[in-house]
Amino acid sequence: MQQVSLFFMRKSKLQRFAELDTFTNVFQNFNFLEPVLIDHKKELIDPKGKWNTEIFKNENPIILELACGKGEYTCEMAIADTSKNYIGVDVKGNRMHRGAKRALKENIINAFFLRTDINIISTFFAKDEVREIWITFPDPHLKRGKEQKRLTSERFLTYYRNILKPGGIIHLKTDDATLYEFTLETIQQLTLKLIYSADDIYSKELFHPFLEIKTHYEKMHLAEGRKIKYVQFSL
Ligand SMILES: C[S@@+](CC[C@H](N)C(=O)[O-])C[C@H]1O[C@@H](n2cnc3c(N)ncnc32)[C@H](O)[C@@H]1O
Repeated sequence: MQQVSLFFMRKSKLQRFAELDTFTNVFQNFNFLEPVLIDHKKELIDPKGKWNTEIFKNENPIILELACGKGEYTCEMAIADTSKNYIGVDVKGNRMHRGAKRALKENIINAFFLRTDINIISTFFAKDEVREIWITFPDPHLKRGKEQKRLTSERFLTYYRNILKPGGIIHLKTDDATLYEFTLETIQQLTLKLIYSADDIYSKELFHPFLEIKTHYEKMHLAEGRKIKYVQFSL
């Protein structure tokens, strides 16, 4: 019985992967040797520096959502603000499928998805090509010695510096106190500009209207009674 349900689960996951390949609003690339070539609609496109001209076909600012999971933020931000282009980035195609499918179904033309590893994010964007970065409920990597795997560690901030416009804002939303404190310490150590921080965003008026958007993970954390934290800073 368990084997039968596992078979169907695997099959539906494989179907989602196959479908993702056909979506016109998704780019997938994991090839470290040829990282800039992306097979999209049978053409090889290198999107670096071309997101405005080739993909969105407008001059609107580009906002990334890193670790986008099911793409709730990417879709909701794109619906709320059509004057900007939103790109959800995650390595897991199964999760991204949900957001990408929704964006196609609802004709959210200013939302796009990039399935890749955030470690190679600067492969896909030119210098100053990105206006803002949202990081929503990333894995906190709590084990000792794993701090540099955190998406707000100095290592990742260096990658973001390569693609963010000067003064470009980074938003972190998390339920994890260690990641929240770590991010504040990193901002202080690197003398970055802290714009706002709150360790319980729903206890006061929301600093940013997009903080109302709730992801899959946020809903689970709220159900467990966890407090949601937010940091806004620039490099
Ligand atoms: C805890 S989930 C949060 C997902 C979503 N933001 C939410 O709140 O529901 C963390 C996500 O980060 C993604 N992730 C972790 N490390 C990554 C990396 N190096 N590159 C791309 N995605 C990564 C995982 O695939 C996962 O979907």
